[in-house]
Amino acid sequence: MRKNDYDGNMIVIEGVDGAGTTTQARRLASKTSKYYTFENTNGLVGRKVDEMIKDGSYSAETVALGFACDRYLHLEEEVIPKLEKGIDVVMDRYYHSSLVYQSLAGADYGWVKGLHKEAPKPDLTIILDVDLDTVLERIEKRDGLGNNIFEKKRFLKKVINGYKSLEVKIEEEMVYVDASRSKEKVFQDVYKVVRERF
Ligand code: TMP
Repeated sequence: MRKNDYDGNMIVIEGVDGAGTTTQARRLASKTSKYYTFENTNGLVGRKVDEMIKDGSYSAETVALGFACDRYLHLEEEVIPKLEKGIDVVMDRYYHSSLVYQSLAGADYGWVKGLHKEAPKPDLTIILDVDLDTVLERIEKRDGLGNNIFEKKRFLKKVINGYKSLEVKIEEEMVYVDASRSKEKVFQDVYKVVRERF
């Protein structure tokens, strides 16, 4: 990871499936007039990655390379041009997802981290921390478990813990928000953290 030397700030919202990253990131971007974007993207490579994680037969390394390739394309084509213009970007997932999910799926953590050497570090990362029961309940309400290889109870539990220990592994500004509460309560905290920081 390299320093973000662009004029715009990069804010990342992260967390396990069902943590509410999309809801919170969209709301934050809209309330603060920042640019919202998400990973994996809807582009060619992003769609291929979706296919791979539904299929389940691809190696963890191939999936990691797919996510990383989608991410660098996203950075070059969309995110960096905004940052260069001084526009703040709110990212719904970023390399933290790869560090947690792909390493838990079997790819070497250091290798996954190395793939992101040239990716700019966010100015702030908010991790939506949520308990397993809440996650399972939300996914069940949405469309049920099993939409991709990661949506399994045991794996999701590992992902929750993976996010908790991420802070000690990477040196960057990270704030944990208790996301087991209502969308409104969670957003109050997310917004407060962003207002205090910028
Ligand atoms: P989404 O549900 O937020 O669209 O994310 C799609 C799934 O892909 C979700 O289970 C998290 C996973 N994922 C990774 O495993 N690695 C990544 O780098 C990204 C961006 C997502």
